[in-house]
Amino acid sequence: MIITAMFRAPLSRRRCIQALALGGLARRAGAQGRITIRLSHVVARQTPKGLALERFGELVRARSQGRIDVVVYPNSLLFGDADEMQALQLGAVDMLAPSLSKFGRLGFPEFELFDLPFLFETRTQVYRAMQGRLGQALLAGLARQRMVGLGYLDNGFKHMSANRPLAVPHDFAGLHMRVQGSRVIAHQMRALGARPVVLDFGETRRALAMGVVDGTENPISNFWTQRMHEVQTHLSLTHHGYLGYAVVVHQRFWAHLAGPDRQLVAAALEEALAWGNAIARSENEQALATLRESGGIHIHDPSAAQRQQLRAATAEVYQGLERRIGRQWLEQVQQEWITG
Ligand code: LMR
Repeated sequence: MIITAMFRAPLSRRRCIQALALGGLARRAGAQGRITIRLSHVVARQTPKGLALERFGELVRARSQGRIDVVVYPNSLLFGDADEMQALQLGAVDMLAPSLSKFGRLGFPEFELFDLPFLFETRTQVYRAMQGRLGQALLAGLARQRMVGLGYLDNGFKHMSANRPLAVPHDFAGLHMRVQGSRVIAHQMRALGARPVVLDFGETRRALAMGVVDGTENPISNFWTQRMHEVQTHLSLTHHGYLGYAVVVHQRFWAHLAGPDRQLVAAALEEALAWGNAIARSENEQALATLRESGGIHIHDPSAAQRQQLRAATAEVYQGLERRIGRQWLEQVQQEWITG
């Protein structure tokens, strides 16, 4: 059972109407062909995703001579996990870049392939899966809910944090661990003996500080920029799972753009995502180095034997996902991941 403690009410009808009205105003204000693209995400600006999406806005403004503007709302300022997808469907926001882990509960369980513990060891393996037939098939499937998948963005590998070291399965016994809304990740935590608690990313730090949850998992760039090291005493570099993003728009928005504008936006996004992928490793490495220098948290590096115990304890998650999405997806990711 996944405990879901949603601190934020779903997008209220009032907010929807306000945002839609705002959106309409923004579009009407563009009578001279001016366009404003509203982009919302849940992480800090100084992260691979935050920086890449800011870069995207700069490229669009420069290449359209300012006629097309991109307004980026970081850190869940406009919408958070609980309401961003609804906002996209309603036209209250134009573009999102959610974690791949957040598509499963929207009706796209095949995206949880990327959540499988210990499936990927290197970014190269992930890129092969993303850029190959598998990744393109996943994005194409978003059309089932009238979304257009425009590309992927990397944020590297996740590690575990709590107020104790987490190096082997019995370290997790009884812990309430904040997770994204992914059944694979929830199963992973249960397989380790912990209790998964689904929470908005924007509520995670407060929940850790209040003791609502005991620990969590994320890449270091998120851990550092959300100042989680101030409310957790131990970070264990488990490198147990991957975290990446898909940039999405609604078909209605994408069709509304004139052809040349759509090409300009797509080309700018492709360049910004490539730039973001290139900095993802260094941003996470820099965050870890800063954490080490700060001395504010115990950082553990589990041994290969300890990681093997974590891998063995979570192997059952693969069968669970296979029962939900079918074997062909797992065979394809293994095939693309190995042959590339
Ligand atoms: C999380 O919710 O932990 C992450 O998806 C946040 C993000 O978008 O990196």
